[in-house]
Amino acid sequence: MCGIVGYIGHREAYPIIIKGLQRLEYRGYDSAGIALYDGTDINLAKTKGKVEDLKSLSETSISLNGSLGIGHTRWATHGVPNHVNSHPHYSNSGDLVIIHNGIIENYESIKKELTKRGYVFESDTDTEVLINLIEEVKKKEDVKLGKAVQIALNQVVGAYAIAVFDRQKPDEIVVAKLGSPLAIGIGDNEFFVASDASPFIEFTNNAVYLEDEEMAIIRLGKEIKLRKIQNDAIAYPMVQELQLNLEEIEKGGYDHFMLKEIYEQPRAIKDTFRGRLRVAEGMVKMAGVDQNIEKFMNAKRIIIVACGTSWHAGLVAEYIFENFARIPVEVEYASEFRYRNPVITRDDIIIAISQSGETADTLAAIKLAKERDAFVFGVCNVVGSTIAREAHAGAYTHAGPEIGVASTKAFTTQITVLTLLALKLAKQKGELSDSKFHELLTEMENIPAKVELALESNPLIEIIAEAYKDSNNCLYLGRGYNFPVALEGALKLKEISYIHAEGYPAAEMKHGPIALIDEQMPVIVIATNNGHYEKVVSNIQEIKSRNGRIIAVVTEGDQQVRELADHVVEVPDTIESLSPLLTTIPLQLLSYHIAVMRNCNVDQPRNLAKSVTVE
Ligand code: AGP
Repeated sequence: MCGIVGYIGHREAYPIIIKGLQRLEYRGYDSAGIALYDGTDINLAKTKGKVEDLKSLSETSISLNGSLGIGHTRWATHGVPNHVNSHPHYSNSGDLVIIHNGIIENYESIKKELTKRGYVFESDTDTEVLINLIEEVKKKEDVKLGKAVQIALNQVVGAYAIAVFDRQKPDEIVVAKLGSPLAIGIGDNEFFVASDASPFIEFTNNAVYLEDEEMAIIRLGKEIKLRKIQNDAIAYPMVQELQLNLEEIEKGGYDHFMLKEIYEQPRAIKDTFRGRLRVAEGMVKMAGVDQNIEKFMNAKRIIIVACGTSWHAGLVAEYIFENFARIPVEVEYASEFRYRNPVITRDDIIIAISQSGETADTLAAIKLAKERDAFVFGVCNVVGSTIAREAHAGAYTHAGPEIGVASTKAFTTQITVLTLLALKLAKQKGELSDSKFHELLTEMENIPAKVELALESNPLIEIIAEAYKDSNNCLYLGRGYNFPVALEGALKLKEISYIHAEGYPAAEMKHGPIALIDEQMPVIVIATNNGHYEKVVSNIQEIKSRNGRIIAVVTEGDQQVRELADHVVEVPDTIESLSPLLTTIPLQLLSYHIAVMRNCNVDQPRNLAKSVTVE
């Protein structure tokens, strides 16, 4: 995610902001920028690359004086990583400057209107549109910056944490928050603004965390004025005295990035379908698909290429595409696909799934497909990554940077993108009725809240983990849409706890694996109430009759499995095709707790890299 830092006070702003941006580097970014007010002018420098590059650029190109400034590390969502798209952004007059973490969904329509009014835009970003909307409101309504920000934000749809200042009124910074974090550090006649407390914790541990739909006008020598964006109601700042150290702040108070990212999934899924899932309009909007819709409509086959967790997301997609869009799908390990001289035709669509967008095998598979005239669609989490650039089109997951080596929010956001794509094509092909389409879109919108509910089982799962942390082997079973989830659960356990684990289709047990069952073999079974439930129950009975120890993931309220299993973890009820987004949660948490109990390095497991950029 982007990182924002701001300062207004009695010290030189430059060193505070640069160091603050360095503190936010853990959030992941692709470019950085700073704007300083030196008493006369706004001096701005920004660049693709690291904060170190920004430092070198700033110290050789702009005046570093001034005690008012803002800085930004950008994780690209709109517009590829480059100088022009980096923040801060000026308004057309050059008087206003903004930094922004979030996504403005309706920026295109606002941009069209502002262009008609003579505004020009240098970048492809939603942020540059926002600062010029604020300028237009300020001019048209003849109001101060704070009021202009408030009026403008009531016209945007999306998520934001912004900091804005006006060269004409350099004794204040205006901030606002909806959906992205924003903290205000309160010092002795100085104020700090940041995405979290890490940039200012060394100066003050007094902080105000803005709530959603709150904004603040921060003026030197004055109390912070908080107000609700929608209705101007005054909000009273609740000043917290922070006890966190730096490392705890970077992990958001969680012990590991992996746990933080498991808990980020409701937000990540929501950000991923934001702007795309249009329930009220009864549609799914995906620019990369809309611009190539003929390719998709005429496709004879979809070939999904990926590795690891991304390959598991592809398997879930296979069930969804074939069930709803009735398009034949093959899911291939990219490492195998690239070397087996596959049959690829120009009527094929290749979907390449990759969190990092840099996986060598997946990249090689894409290149092979392009040589044979196939259309390549990328599903990546890193904007401007190699795979994203190599693909003919694509759709980004908006999971934000995934720091833990074990993929968690990448998996659920990949499934989110692929589900929306499959439903969009199914509707376009007339394979889905309006009512069924609406039902699926509505339930997708409910998923983030249901993931929140699934996460509430964490304390129970920690207790279960205690009972299985010394296992040497584990079996994971699932059917239908949850067979890939069984594979993914097994991968999570083996890659962070080093316990050997295998995933199987539940019905495969009688074809060999059931010979493994005894009291030493824990079996994790996904037995939700949709999709062959009774058959899974009989699989459980077979395991139980051979003294297997059973951990079952069930739909809330299940009684039948509860009587058979040794442990039961409930997830909310949902439509079968969306159940992987919920059933994977307890498996992520189980592997996490077992790994912690085995004193494994959860975020950097042995022998593994976050992105396998070599063969
Ligand atoms: C999964 O937890 C691992 N981190 C690994 O299997 C990963 O999914 C695989 O290397 C693919 O990476 P990518 O999604 O970045 O291409």
